[in-house]
Amino acid sequence: MIRCLLPGGTKPLTDPELEDLYFPRKTAGPWVSFNFVSSLDGAATVNGRSGGLGSEADRRIMKLLRRAADVILVGAGTVRAEGYSGELIDEADRKWRLDQGLTERPALAIVSGSLDVDPSLPFFTGAMVRPLVITTGLADPGRRDRMQDVADVITCGQAGLDVDFLVRELRERGYPGIHSEGGPHLFGTFQGAGRVDELHLSLSPLLVGGQATRIAAAPAANPTPLGMHLEQVLQAGDMLFLRYRAQQTGAQRGDTPTDSAGIPPSSEEGA
Ligand SMILES: NC(=O)c1ccc[n+]([C@@H]2O[C@H](COP(=O)([O-])OP(=O)(O)OC[C@H]3O[C@@H](n4cnc5c(N)ncnc54)[C@H](OP(=O)(O)O)[C@@H]3O)[C@@H](O)[C@H]2O)c1
Repeated sequence: MIRCLLPGGTKPLTDPELEDLYFPRKTAGPWVSFNFVSSLDGAATVNGRSGGLGSEADRRIMKLLRRAADVILVGAGTVRAEGYSGELIDEADRKWRLDQGLTERPALAIVSGSLDVDPSLPFFTGAMVRPLVITTGLADPGRRDRMQDVADVITCGQAGLDVDFLVRELRERGYPGIHSEGGPHLFGTFQGAGRVDELHLSLSPLLVGGQATRIAAAPAANPTPLGMHLEQVLQAGDMLFLRYRAQQTGAQRGDTPTDSAGIPPSSEEGA
């Protein structure tokens, strides 16, 4: 059972109430959300994968976030570690998307600077929609050619990843709702560019210790912190599901005004 602690009280949520919280935004403007699971001591992995941190409720929320996305964005490291292949959303969610006027499936995009990604990976061969591969002008031309056989390759930046260009490009291709499932290097890059609008953070009741990575690996040694507002807290058993919105979102940066899924814009947002 999942309870809603904020907003409202502590009453258990019905299925429709939970689904309403993860309804797609009504906007043509870009919106970048990330979803991570972390242990209490900040580990993003157990034995190199995130699966050991999750729970049934975590997977339920991940599924709701996926079904509302225009495009699911992942870094190449996450694809190498976690797999990602075949159907990412089930039949009921595909039908739900069509009923909402969305495409049957969200698009799928992978970010790789090196393009050292095997085109015969199930990520490509088992994909239900032709994937997008996002890279930079530094990528090896031979690898780029091989990648073009299995995906649409988009160059976002010449000397490094240009996150603003990436967000604009995806929006122009019809994917304003960018939902990322990580990983830490991609998240760090988006943070560094100030392009995180929303974070869905699942807190797992575990102390992991060891050398596990955090959810963000910042490319810069001293990045500028981004302020976030707490907008929603759900609880299922010992797990918490925190939803934070950036203090400065796309609308405030001059993008087309947006309205987050199921959550009215905060007063700062409308100011
Ligand atoms: N706890 C969670 O919720 C969660 C979520 C996702 C992943 N993870 C875990 O995180 C680990 C993977 O971490 P990671 O940081 O390597 O994942 P990642 O961010 O998915 O992948 C990093 C790779 O993505 C590409 N990339 C990311 N930012 C880039 C940039 N600015 N410019 C160019 N390329 C860029 C690069 O690919 P190339 O090397 O191909 O150039 C880079 O090596 C795995 O153990 C995974 O299980 C945990």
